[in-house]
Amino acid sequence: MKKNNFLSILIFSIMALSCSNNTDVIKNAEVGVDEKVKELLSKMTLEEKIGQMTQVDQNALVDYNDITKYAIGSVLWGGNSEIADISAGGWTKMADTLIGFSLKTRLGIPILLGIDAVHGHNNVNNAVIFPHNIGLGCTRNPELVEEVAKVAAQEISATKIHWTFAPCVAVVRDERWGRTYESFSENPELVAQLGAAAVKGFENGNLASPEAVLSCTKHYMGDGGTTNGKDQGNAEYDEQSLRKIHLPGYISAMKEKTATIMISYSSWNGEKMHGHKYLITDLLKGELKYEGFIVSDWAAIDQLEGDYKSDIEKSINAGLDMIMIPNGPALQGKVGVNGQPINTYFDFIKNLKELVAEGKVPLTRIDDAVSRILKAKFNFDLFNKVKIENNLSAKVGSKENREVGRKAVQQSLVLLKNENNILPISKEVKNILVSGRGADNVGMQCGGWTISWQGNNGEVVKGGTSILNAVKNSVSKNTNVITSLDGSNAENADVIIVVVGENPYAEGFGDDQDLTLSEEDIKTISKVKESNKPFVVILLSGRPMIINNELEKANAFVAAWLPGSEGQGIADVLFGDVDFSGKLSFTWPKNIEQIPINVGDENYDPLFPYGYGLTYKK
Ligand code: BGC
Ligand code: BGC
Repeated sequence: MKKNNFLSILIFSIMALSCSNNTDVIKNAEVGVDEKVKELLSKMTLEEKIGQMTQVDQNALVDYNDITKYAIGSVLWGGNSEIADISAGGWTKMADTLIGFSLKTRLGIPILLGIDAVHGHNNVNNAVIFPHNIGLGCTRNPELVEEVAKVAAQEISATKIHWTFAPCVAVVRDERWGRTYESFSENPELVAQLGAAAVKGFENGNLASPEAVLSCTKHYMGDGGTTNGKDQGNAEYDEQSLRKIHLPGYISAMKEKTATIMISYSSWNGEKMHGHKYLITDLLKGELKYEGFIVSDWAAIDQLEGDYKSDIEKSINAGLDMIMIPNGPALQGKVGVNGQPINTYFDFIKNLKELVAEGKVPLTRIDDAVSRILKAKFNFDLFNKVKIENNLSAKVGSKENREVGRKAVQQSLVLLKNENNILPISKEVKNILVSGRGADNVGMQCGGWTISWQGNNGEVVKGGTSILNAVKNSVSKNTNVITSLDGSNAENADVIIVVVGENPYAEGFGDDQDLTLSEEDIKTISKVKESNKPFVVILLSGRPMIINNELEKANAFVAAWLPGSEGQGIADVLFGDVDFSGKLSFTWPKNIEQIPINVGDENYDPLFPYGYGLTYKK
């Protein structure tokens, strides 16, 4: 009896000692990250390790206690994941709540919160919405891209979210793809340069900084090279070409220590990237010595052949470290529209545990995955950051941050035509008509991935400036600004600005086989043309479109891409306060049959070549 007591006291004190050692090691600034990771890993059960590898969509969590119960390592918000209060304060509160549940776990490892902040903190009302990457590509300005990412990181940090699924370093070779606007350029070198700049900006030169977020370079690899520009399609390349075109963005992002990489939905020569051990483990982690962690795309492993258990086995053994799981209890045991079972985070956890017990996923693989995740958490100083206030809330949508957005817009615009120098427009002009669907439409300026996944027309974000309002801000007080949606009133104007383009879309919903303007836009332009007054067309689009007839009719033509909330940047250039400097980062095709057309092609004969862009100064 006595002996037993003594023994248990002894065991208890050893345990207590090792426990306090554990916290000491983790808190001790003198101890290196690798040692901390090792120490913490040695304390973890298999369940806790699998928890770290599990990333759940916030909307799938019916009961936040699951975060504690399963020691979930990460929560994300997908493009359509809604929270009730989308103000910066609302997001911060939500983040704090989730973090709280993770701190109640046995080891208190804080949860990592991730979101698609792909052009600013684009799910937050009143955040600055920056131009989508295609516009930033036309700036050719790495310092500016870094600054943009830095501001985005500051606004993300203000809401206590830690991780953005950006930058996208897709090298898009076919504009029919709905994600073309997420790409800086068709040119691998420019993508590599600007992708690295974005990583630098997000991570602030030091992940531990209070204004840094983890970057996620995506989507590895060949996403922009799928045949016919099909979303989630198949990239048909020999290995040398794949490496030459689609790998440089990752190499340069890795030089800037991108914390994470996301795998692409697409396939390489018919084999899905999510199961591609050669490209993930051998090339990325082996040959290129990548030390960050690899996350899956949204329910992407579910697309591998076989049942969910074999999907997990294949993808984890291929080298994936964290799996993004959009479904939870509400859909447990249900079948999806495609007739396939819906897989939840319960299924993931249960199956992975079994696979380890059966020896089908080696424990060494689990330990490697978890070590990488913990390392990112330590490098980010997550354990301390969750306990302190960063006092950044006033920065969200602040004047100084909007100025950075405005500058990015100015530099992203590409002037395609300027007949008789109708631009710049005089601020003293008597009557100016601002017309077209896009004239007073911040939502259309922003495009997809803005508040909702697909984006929307209209006033989707607070605090933005439409092109119409920007014009009003710029002209003299004697100028009469008239408006119409459809080009009417043109006869009463001395000069006309017509704003047309694409309705917002994201991912496969934007795949488009003809890329012509809508009937409505064509009619608006024709109507303005009938007035015989000089007019400039501003095109809001996620990619080059087939515009020959409209270009012919217009006196001036500006490719404005998807500039985001700071429409003032457009007026600054139209009225000559700032000159045009943007240069095409994509080749502009003459017709749809020419696509795919890319700089360096044989018999290259586009409407406008890569690098084209007029300026005012001769
Ligand atoms: C997209 C990713 C995105 C993820 C999370 C996926 O459908 O392909 O780019 O980061 O969803 O929203
Ligand atoms: C989510 C997106 C995700 C997409 C994938 C949507 O419901 O909101 O984030 O990219 O599904 O299909």
